[in-house]
Formats: sequence, C-alpha cells, structure tokens
Amino acid sequence: MMNATEPNGLSENAKALMLGISPRILLAAVAASFLLGGCSDQAVETAAVAPAASVPPVEKSSIIDDASMADETAGENWLAFGRTYSEQRFSPLDQIDRDSVTELGVDWYLDIPNARGLVGTPLVVDGVIYFNESMNRVHAVDLRTRKQLWMYDPRVAEETGTDLRAGWEHNRGIGLWKDKLYVATWDGRLIAVDRATGEELWSVRPFPAEEPMYITGAPKIFKGKVLVGNGGTENGPNRGYVTAYDAETGEQAWRFWIVPGNPADGFENDAMRMAAETWTGEWWKFGGGGNAWHGFTYDPELDTLYVGTGNGAPWNRKVRSPEGGDNLFLCSIVALDPDTGEYKWHYQTTPGETWDYNSNMDIVLADLEMGDRTVKALMHAPKNGFFYTIDRETGKVLVAEPFSKVTWASHVDLETGRPVEMPGQRYEDGGPVRVAPSPWGAHSWHAMSYNPVTGLAYVPALHFSIEFFDHGVDPATWESSRFEGDTTAVSLDLGEGEAPYMGSLQAIDPTTGSIEWEVPLAGKWNAGTLTTAGGLVFQGRADGDFVAYDAKTGEELWRKNLGLGISAPPITFEVDGVQYISLLVGWGGGAAGIAGNLEVEHGWAYGRHTRRLVTFSLEGETVLPPQSPPEAVRPIVIEHFDVDADLAVQGADEYGRCGSCHGPGAKSGGMAPDLRASAVVGSAEAFAAVVRDGAKMANGMPRYAHLTNNQLTALQHYLREQAELALAE
Ligand code: HEC
Repeated sequence: MMNATEPNGLSENAKALMLGISPRILLAAVAASFLLGGCSDQAVETAAVAPAASVPPVEKSSIIDDASMADETAGENWLAFGRTYSEQRFSPLDQIDRDSVTELGVDWYLDIPNARGLVGTPLVVDGVIYFNESMNRVHAVDLRTRKQLWMYDPRVAEETGTDLRAGWEHNRGIGLWKDKLYVATWDGRLIAVDRATGEELWSVRPFPAEEPMYITGAPKIFKGKVLVGNGGTENGPNRGYVTAYDAETGEQAWRFWIVPGNPADGFENDAMRMAAETWTGEWWKFGGGGNAWHGFTYDPELDTLYVGTGNGAPWNRKVRSPEGGDNLFLCSIVALDPDTGEYKWHYQTTPGETWDYNSNMDIVLADLEMGDRTVKALMHAPKNGFFYTIDRETGKVLVAEPFSKVTWASHVDLETGRPVEMPGQRYEDGGPVRVAPSPWGAHSWHAMSYNPVTGLAYVPALHFSIEFFDHGVDPATWESSRFEGDTTAVSLDLGEGEAPYMGSLQAIDPTTGSIEWEVPLAGKWNAGTLTTAGGLVFQGRADGDFVAYDAKTGEELWRKNLGLGISAPPITFEVDGVQYISLLVGWGGGAAGIAGNLEVEHGWAYGRHTRRLVTFSLEGETVLPPQSPPEAVRPIVIEHFDVDADLAVQGADEYGRCGSCHGPGAKSGGMAPDLRASAVVGSAEAFAAVVRDGAKMANGMPRYAHLTNNQLTALQHYLREQAELALAE
C-alpha cells in the first residue's frame, strides 16, 4: 500500500512514468495504490483492484445526448460540467434538505496518491463516478463497490516537451457524450477515451505542445461536437480561439478566432473584419489575447453557444492598441452558431480592457420573471465586478450591478450597455493607481450556481484592489516572449482593507442584481457552489470547512472540516435511492501558486496532506483519517551557504519564471515546495539536476534547459536570501 505523494521525492507513479513503464502496468500499479475508506468495520481498507484486463466494463444504460444533458428534472446522474446544459448546478434531489442536513456524514472516501491541486467537477452516470486530478489523469470508480474501474493517464509530463510551461497542471473537468469521455490536457490535447474501459480512442491537438498555451477547462459537448478553448494570454504572443471537433471521430468541425489577426493576411470571416475596426496599431504582433479558457455554455432552447472570452495580450491597452479602441472580442460573451461557429451577437463587458478583467467566468442560463415578461436570460459575474443579467435572445444587458467594490467604472449605462469609466483608472500616464477589482477579479472560475426555487445565484466572490503601473513600458519596443509571462502592468501589492474581508459567499437576485445575503469568509479563494431542491447551498472553503447553508436566508445549517483546503465544487447524485454529495478535496488552483505569498497562511504545505474524493450521505458515519494540522512552512538553515547580495538581486529577476508555482518571494501557497525549506537549493548539483535537467518533471516541475550555471547560482542565492530573511523575522 502506498502513501500519498512523498513530499519532495519522486512517487512510484512518477518513477514509473520517468522509466517509461507501459501504461497498462502503470495502470495496475496505480490502481492498487488507492486507499479506500468507509462502509466497513475498519475505517480504511485496501481497494483490491484487479488489473485493467479483468475489470468488467462499465455498464452503459443511460444515453448521454442532447436530451439527457438538457433534462433539468432527472437528478440521479450528474452528466455535464454544470450538471445540465444550463450550468445551473442546481439538483432536483431533496432527500438531503434543510432539516435532514444535520445528519450528513462521510459515507466513504478515496485517497488519491500523487495528486496535488484538485479543482475538477466529477461526473456521474449509471452508478459510476468519473473525475480528473493532477496532470490530467482521469479515474472511474464504481459507486456501489467503491472500487476503481480504470485510470487513464495522458502522460502529460512527457508531452509538455522539455521547456517551460506555466503552472496549470490542474484541470476543472471532463466531458461525457454517448459512450465516450473527453479530457483536455495541459500540453494542449483533446483526447477521447472509452468510458467503459478507459482506453484511448483518439487524440487531437488544438495547438502544438511548443505553443505557449494550455488547456485547463472542461471540454463541453453538444450536438455531437466537443468544444475546447485555451489559456495563455500572459505567456506569449497568443491569439485566442475555440475549436469544435466531431465527438465521434475527433475531426475538426470549426474554429472561431476571438481577436483579429494581421489584416494583411486577410480575415477569417466578417466578425473578424468587424472586430479589426476596434483595434489600432499593430496589435497582431502581440497576439491580442482573448483566450477562452473556461466559460462555454450551450443553449438547447435557442440553439446557441455562448463563449466567455479573455483579456488582452498584453494587459496594457497602450501597448497592444496604442490609439485606443474597444478591442473586440476581448472580455465579451460571444454568441455563436453551434454547428458552424458563425457569429450571432456579442456583449462586451469591459471595452478596451486594460486590467485583466476577462469574461471567462461561467455563463448560467435561466428563465427569469422580470416585470411582466419571462426573459430567456443568461447570468454572468466576470472579473470586472458587475453581475450581469442579459437577454440571451438579443444580447441586450438588462441588469448590471456591482457585487464587489468597483473603482474603474461608476456604473453600466443600460441604454448603451457600456460601462461609464472613472477618470484616471486606466493608468494612461503609467500609474500607479489603485483599482478595484484586482486582476484576480471579483469572481473567478469557482463555479456559481443558480436555484430556480429561491431565484438566487450563489457566487464565490473576491474583494481586492491592486495598484496598476506599467514601469514606463515602451510600446514601441516591448515584445512578448514565449513562456515568459509579462503583463506590462500591475504591482503585486494586493490591497487589503477595501472590504473588511477578502472572500465571501454571495446570494444575488439576478432580476435586480441586489445581494440578498452574504457570508464573509476568512479565506480568499473559496470553492464553487452547488444548490439543491432541498433548499440548500453547499460550498467548500479555503480553510477546509465544507458548509451547507439555507439557500433562502444564508443561515449556516451544517459544517464539517475535511482537513485540507477545498478548491473544487461539490456535486450530488443518487444511487439505489440514496442521495450522495461528492467533492474532491485537494487545495490548489492558480491562486495557490501565483499568489502563494497570500495563501501561505492556510498552512497547506506542498506534499503534506492527502488528496481525496469524499462522498457524503445522511447515513454516513465514516471517520476520515486525520490530516497533518495546518502549519506554516519553516525555512531551513543551510550552514555552509553564504548569500551574495548581488547574486541574490540577479536571482530575484530570474525567479520571475518560478513564482507562478513556488509563490512570490518564494513563499509557497502549496502548489509546489516552499524553496526556503528545500535542501536541494543548498547543493549546486542537486539544484541543476532538478531545475536544468528536469529530474522532477513527472511531478510538474518544468525543465529549464537553457539556464546557465550563473543563472542557476543566482537563483540559489536569491532563494537562500529569502530563507534567511524569514529565519531572521
Ligand atoms: C509549473 C510549476 C513550477 C514552476 C514554474 C517551477 N516549479 Fe519548481 N517545482 C514544482 C513542483 C510541482 C515541484 C515538486 C516536484 C515533486 O514533487 O517532485 C518543484 C520542485 C522544485 C525543486 C525541488 C525542491 C525540493 O526540495 O525537492 C526546486 C529546487 C525547484 N522546484 C526550483 C524551481 C525553480 C528555481 C524554478 C524557476 C526557474 C521553478 N522551480 C519553477 C513546480 C514548478
């Protein structure tokens, strides 16, 4: 029996990967390493999983198609990312309700060795739960026997190539259609596997592995097509797009570019011709951005696809479009024909954006009673701090109210649909100027849900400001370089004190935009929500508490600490007449890396806590094995190492490429080891083996093959300086 990830060593799984052991053997080895708990006399028992060959195939009785994915009334399965096409994450199940929820307990759990940040939404069909974990590995587990049926490993570390990649080893979900399951990977593949056996059926590349992009979003499937986008706006000269593939064969059906390319090359379509009118200068040299990495919603009633688009590349409009302009289709909801990818309409939430206010957040569909009519509406709470309710037949904005402190605009003019900007907030003169929300947004990818019974949307909200300044960047000479993130603006000085708290759970009435109730939270990045016909809202938190609230009033009804920060949203489903709630427990996500200095306070140090899938029911009485208590990382003393101040200054510069995983100032939020506590940093050989030669690539530590000895030494000195500063505190 194997334990969870060995903190700083290579796990068995990783060693196997690096040794190139065949996937079949690896599969059996990993399967056997699972720990299963619950529903037995012993708290923990080994899951005796047979090798793949003798596992009976998953029985497929439910048909996963447009009709079943649109069916709001069937609660047994959880077929799609947002449960149904509407993305409401509302379940009609009500066995667990406001009264009975006090009886909720852990029914069973599954340890997930080698996993790190878990942010995905599991899917359930016909008594099988499917989920994805670190490095895009996918698991199928029988909900009756609680045994693993198969594991599929797309061997991402091998595919990412030998060079740098931003820290997005996590992924928010998978997709199902008929007999197949779809997974999209960090290195940019879309893969179909047989959902009965986990066998790979086909694999296509929306972009080559060498491109400075990645996929972290769940593939969305509708009408026999699979849609994927990509991220990477900050990582190079990227031009965003979404691509639809035939779900059966993997053949490309269509592609929609989000921003126009070089006019000299001709435009792909009229939409790009129209968009180009809103750009100035030579934007195509910078890519333009707009990358769609998360929010895609298919609307079966209006047969329309809504795509939430990203921010500009680079962030600073002065650089990419120096004479101004709205820069379509950045920060927009773009409505497309799902069969052809043809443009229908768009609504731009932040024209000419310059603050990273992307509109990639989820897009939730509902019929709303507004005034004397029923509106076919969509709801959207993007980073820019306004909650939008939009008529999805026309694209007209009906409600746009701030749900967090907003300083960049006074309000949205509902006549024109445009925000009314506040003077000085664009840092045109270089700044610094303090702006709210921050580039983290007032809401990010953490799922919001909508309950048609209460008429409320439940939003995990963020409340920060930040200083924008652009270090006198020269638009004439600035170039974006591949894989070396540069935003051309912003300080990392996140403002506290804009609100008395930096995270909260909000219940928003989409017909008015008013906040009906709000629960201030101690942590910042709290997980996505689930709401049910039982009158409940569930949310996991950064501090490890899993909490149920009264959906109408926000009153807390139940709470359980799961021993590790929660970053993934819960789902609910039914097996043999019993309602269950499942969620992945595994602190992670971009913020735990890039804002590690802010997240270090939680004490979820890298490699110390076991990642789990935890399932609850009203009969559940299983005791979870205890986790290490949250604890701040203690920097270590390395006697023989004398820090050279000049080298440390140079190293601080080099460290720019490391901070997205190891945290600013080498303070890790838990996505990677805290390098102030790493003995490896004290040894030139060990450091080079890891950083330059890729000894830990299989676990998500990139290989920086081009770094010179001098650069490596500078990094060591910077890291030791940070350790010594912390030790001296
Ligand atoms: C994409 C995320 C990511 C980036 C970027 C990254 N690392 Fe890492 N790093 C990791 C992870 C994850 C591990 C732990 C791997 C494991 O568990 O074996 C790690 C491990 C290490 C270790 C070994 C620590 C120990 O004590 O075992 C060192 C040293 C290190 N990284 C240095 C760097 C440096 C220097 C940079 C920048 C040049 C960098 N890393 C960039 C993710 C990253």
